[in-house]
Amino acid sequence: MTASAGIHVFDTSKELIAKAAEDIVNAAARAVADHGHFTIALSGGSTPKPLYELLASAPLKYEMPWKKTFFFFGDERCVPHTSDESNFKMAKQTLFKPDLVRDENVFATELQDSDPEESAKLYEEEIQAFFDLEENQFPKFDLILLGLGDDGHTASLFPGTAALNECRKICVANYVEKFKTNRITLTLPVLDNAVNVWFIVSGKGKSKVVSEIISGKDKDLYPAQMVKPVSGQPQWYLDKDAASALDPAFCRT
Ligand code: 6PG
Repeated sequence: MTASAGIHVFDTSKELIAKAAEDIVNAAARAVADHGHFTIALSGGSTPKPLYELLASAPLKYEMPWKKTFFFFGDERCVPHTSDESNFKMAKQTLFKPDLVRDENVFATELQDSDPEESAKLYEEEIQAFFDLEENQFPKFDLILLGLGDDGHTASLFPGTAALNECRKICVANYVEKFKTNRITLTLPVLDNAVNVWFIVSGKGKSKVVSEIISGKDKDLYPAQMVKPVSGQPQWYLDKDAASALDPAFCRT
């Protein structure tokens, strides 16, 4: 593994996932020691599946403070939770094992498949209640996991979509033209307010966008570039394929 500030490159996606899982367990322990619980917003898509499976398997499953861990979603598709497209369904199948995770520790969207605007409003209210927020306050998640699309989107903040300009709300319904559908997504101020923001990216298909984002050639060309955590820089967990177009200077140990 090679690393420079905020960038961790692993020879294989297996090694990437193993380190990310170990780091999640450690982040959970730190959060629980600090304030009694661990709040994590999960990313969707396919990349995190093995990560969630590893966390819910021995030996890490014996190290996670499950009862003090509260799961949220960085974004959700506007489909039923029974759909194979659902991020909730993916997390339920890989991470939310009945013997580990209680239903009351999982905060998923509702109505996302029937009324996206109402769904986003309800989810925002649920987050505000959990974090005991005043109006115009943003939650401080202990960890937000993010994926990266080859168009540079993250969560469901896609290039050219309205949600990128949202600076007051916690969660919005975001119409994505390329899919001709809405998505529910946390907004940039929420991502930026997290204690830890980790991008988990693997595969050659992401190498070009990873290189352009990390080299920072064109400022804020991609939504993922617009994630600027107040707590410092995001951490990038990359396998060699995803980092293959990166200037070697970024991968120096
Ligand atoms: C989603 C995700 C999205 C995802 C990227 C990468 O709902 O799809 O939250 O932001 O992380 O699209 O997806 P893959 O991991 O499948 O490449």
